[in-house]
Amino acid sequence: MTLDTIISGGRLVTASQTVRADVGVRGERIAVIGQDLAKAHPGAAIVDARDRYVIPAGLDVHVHLELPFCGTVSSDDYDSGTRAAACGGVTTVIDFAIPYGNDSLGQAVDNWHARAEGKACVDYCFHVAITKWDRHHREIKGLVKRGYPTFKQFMIYEKEGWQADDAAIYGALETLRDLGGMLLVHAESSRVLDLLIARHHKPAEMRKHGAWLHVVTRPNFIEAEAIERVIRWTRVTGGRAFIVHMSTAEGAELIRQAMHAGVNIVAETCAQYLVLDDSVFKKKDGHLYATCPQLKTPADQKRLWAGLKAGEVSNVSTDTCTFTRKQKAMWKGDWTKIPMGMPGTETLMPLVYTHGVLENRLTVNQFVDRCSTNPAKVMGLYPKKGALAVGSDADITIIHPTRKRTVDWRKLQTNCDWSPFQGWELAGFAEHTFCRGTQVVRDYKFVGRNGYGQFLKREPFAAA
Ligand code: URP
Ligand code: ZN
Ligand code: ZN
Repeated sequence: MTLDTIISGGRLVTASQTVRADVGVRGERIAVIGQDLAKAHPGAAIVDARDRYVIPAGLDVHVHLELPFCGTVSSDDYDSGTRAAACGGVTTVIDFAIPYGNDSLGQAVDNWHARAEGKACVDYCFHVAITKWDRHHREIKGLVKRGYPTFKQFMIYEKEGWQADDAAIYGALETLRDLGGMLLVHAESSRVLDLLIARHHKPAEMRKHGAWLHVVTRPNFIEAEAIERVIRWTRVTGGRAFIVHMSTAEGAELIRQAMHAGVNIVAETCAQYLVLDDSVFKKKDGHLYATCPQLKTPADQKRLWAGLKAGEVSNVSTDTCTFTRKQKAMWKGDWTKIPMGMPGTETLMPLVYTHGVLENRLTVNQFVDRCSTNPAKVMGLYPKKGALAVGSDADITIIHPTRKRTVDWRKLQTNCDWSPFQGWELAGFAEHTFCRGTQVVRDYKFVGRNGYGQFLKREPFAAA
């Protein structure tokens, strides 16, 4: 057998073990894993991975690229957003196809394909947002058949026209249960949130507290109550649910209990909830950090790390939704007008590696599991993605175990002109990244190309 590339001499890290071995790549797939492959396969290009970890490339299963939102459009598109992914060691991103106005779900999906085609540098697929249950429910079956088994509903964002009520969530869980689909939910309690926002939306308070009002109006019970409701609807329907961007200790505890009780529900957190806390809103540029849900406290961080280790937090993603300083400045002192979201995919793996593995919160195998293997499993992409195994896509990231790089937004691929992690010293950036056998990062530099990334069609989930 001829091999195109041999990744030689590295420590291969999977979700379950670490072994010293070579990886042989032929075409787009991993063809062989073994010792001294170069001897038996002369002619292959050799990538020296001595003293490095060789891991299955990451998946960021929650990104928003070129998203019209909060009166503007998020500034990372499929060009910068997927270059950032590659340099962060991520070769699969999952975005959200969201209908606008009277768009059908099919139109939303077409719109998102148009954004990605010809631009994406790594592989991608979409969750489909159901924003008008009465009309959209008819399309769900067809979309599952076409390779989109994951759907999304938002419990907030009434003004955007995205909000789903309890009946819509209940209906979607029932419908998807019968089709082998999964419902992702943005869980925040809308009516109480609106009440708290109205209560504090006063010029004097805004002058005094600025972006801190984002924290005041979103106490932890806003997320916890909404997660409780999703758990309830998931239990009684027998459906399958996934809580996106879970940010609270209460949420992690509710998911632990629900999983223990046999409810088919899992939850992700995002890197920012693990490493940043709400004290940032007191900083001069605190408004830059505004996301929905907002950053919580060090106690929440601690519980989310514990949940990530124990398994009730299934994976880490980013909710990348990038806004520049100019876009963020639209708030003019009113926190309800801040474009919500931050850049993230490029720093996902380095943050979880540095603050997880190097600070002894996770083993290196757990890091691989939560950033690569498990997101691939949860989203129906395993073992094509998320595995170092013969027959899997040769999506491989090589990282140095200890060498740190300083985060500087000027050197990142993102279009953003600031970084929530500016000046942080992080290990775990991709020294080399391969996407389906093609090198897209070499020596920390992007060497991929637009249009290389492929759409990933997914199958329905097997019954639980
Ligand atoms: O602040 C955020 N998260 N922006 C993107 C939309 C969402 O809720 O995921
Ligand atoms: Zn959300
Ligand atoms: Zn999101």
